[in-house]
Amino acid sequence: MLYAELSSWWPVFSPPEAYAERAALFAKILKKACNPKLVLELGCGGGSVAWHLKKHFTMHLADISVEMLREAARLNPDCEQFQADMRDVRLNRVYDAVFLNDAVMYMKTEEDLRKTMARAYAHLRPGGAALFVPDATEETFLERTEQGGGELDGREGRYVAWFRDPDPTDGVYEVDFAILLCEGDGHVRCVHDHHECGVFPRSSWLRWLTEAGFRAEKIAHHSEMFLGRRG
Ligand SMILES: C[S@@+](CC[C@H](N)C(=O)[O-])C[C@H]1O[C@@H](n2cnc3c(N)ncnc32)[C@H](O)[C@@H]1O
Repeated sequence: MLYAELSSWWPVFSPPEAYAERAALFAKILKKACNPKLVLELGCGGGSVAWHLKKHFTMHLADISVEMLREAARLNPDCEQFQADMRDVRLNRVYDAVFLNDAVMYMKTEEDLRKTMARAYAHLRPGGAALFVPDATEETFLERTEQGGGELDGREGRYVAWFRDPDPTDGVYEVDFAILLCEGDGHVRCVHDHHECGVFPRSSWLRWLTEAGFRAEKIAHHSEMFLGRRG
């Protein structure tokens, strides 16, 4: 729902400003890894991170949701867009770098994550690199709540996100969003959205990347990031 009927609210909840610091870090890591010119982002969402990254690289943006791509295009009309599922994307061209941020955790199974790694590899030139930034690994996942919100063009929204892991053995965690939306007419409506995400141990990330053909490493940082280099 968040990435379909509610997609036009993305700039209210997650505008580019919210990603400035993270995007600067991603740009630094990508430059150090392979100094890319052309970068493909898989799962670009509303294009908020890409809005920063395009100052450093030519960005091509892909997402499974046409509605989110519409938002990404509004923000980044200068970037090429593709509707594609990261598990079977085939764009018929190669990139200097592939970037997967807070979308890759929607890969709920080993099979889906391995397919995604293979597609990232296939889209890289030799010497290129893929940066994977899952929201969490098994080592870092925490049950918690987060809240946020914003205001844009007379529309206002607030949310609480409840991160839970009802079955710690199944490699899946759940996020329930309670979202309050006000169109500016004073009336507030409430929407519930349920998400399911995959969470895997660091050792599995590194092994599956290696088996996909990458030279894999975990980036030393307090958040979880994995770099795969194509030799
Ligand atoms: C949290 S949003 C990404 C927001 C993005 N970082 C930004 O800058 O706006 C997650 C995105 O992952 C996308 N997504 C989920 N599963 C996907 C898949 N299998 N292939 C491609 N995109 C996917 C969703 O459609 C959604 O747009």
